[in-house]
Amino acid sequence: MHLRIATQDDLNDLLQFEQAVVEAERPFNQHIKAKKATYYDIPALINEINSQLLILEEKDQIIATGYIQIRPSKQSLSHEKHGYLGFMYVASEYRGRGLNRLVMDALIGWGKAQGIDVFYLDVYAENQAAINAYQKLGFKPSLVEMKLDVSL
Ligand SMILES: CC(C)(COP(=O)(O)OP(=O)(O)OC[C@H]1O[C@@H](n2cnc3c(N)ncnc32)[C@H](O)[C@@H]1OP(=O)(O)O)[C@@H](O)C(=O)NCCC(=O)NCCS
Repeated sequence: MHLRIATQDDLNDLLQFEQAVVEAERPFNQHIKAKKATYYDIPALINEINSQLLILEEKDQIIATGYIQIRPSKQSLSHEKHGYLGFMYVASEYRGRGLNRLVMDALIGWGKAQGIDVFYLDVYAENQAAINAYQKLGFKPSLVEMKLDVSL
């Protein structure tokens, strides 16, 4: 198993993984588009110096992903910048072996090395497997997004 920084050559594989994240989250949000739903600007996450996109490989196959992006924080907060984490995905046959923890530990380590102390991520309230994984790393629930759909 090999953890490495993603490159442009990984783009096609990463686009497929992105669709796997979309499909994994579809049960949690009926408003995800039926077709052409995308989440990330993958080329920017690879190229820009304020982000790191990591890939965990096994025998040249991607088995897990995750990124961190350093973002400006709200004026009201005591930290000027924070690390935002996303694209956490582990291929189904490799789940429950601590691989997401491996990727996230590396991303948080990179953030710390850039002087970042505070890290955020978004997760669907019903995605208990992911919530458990993040809580094991020390994340705690913070802001709750509320939603009303008056068309229903
Ligand atoms: C969420 C996800 C990335 C976790 O990856 P993983 O490699 O299986 O996680 P880890 O093995 O590092 O698990 C860490 C902890 O998460 C919890 N966890 C993992 N899978 C779980 C499951 N299916 N049910 C309940 N808890 C689970 C456990 O508490 C686990 O700790 P333990 O092994 O000490 O019991 C993976 O399930 C996944 O890819 N899901 C689909 C995509 C997704 O929902 N991504 C998150 C978007 S926010």
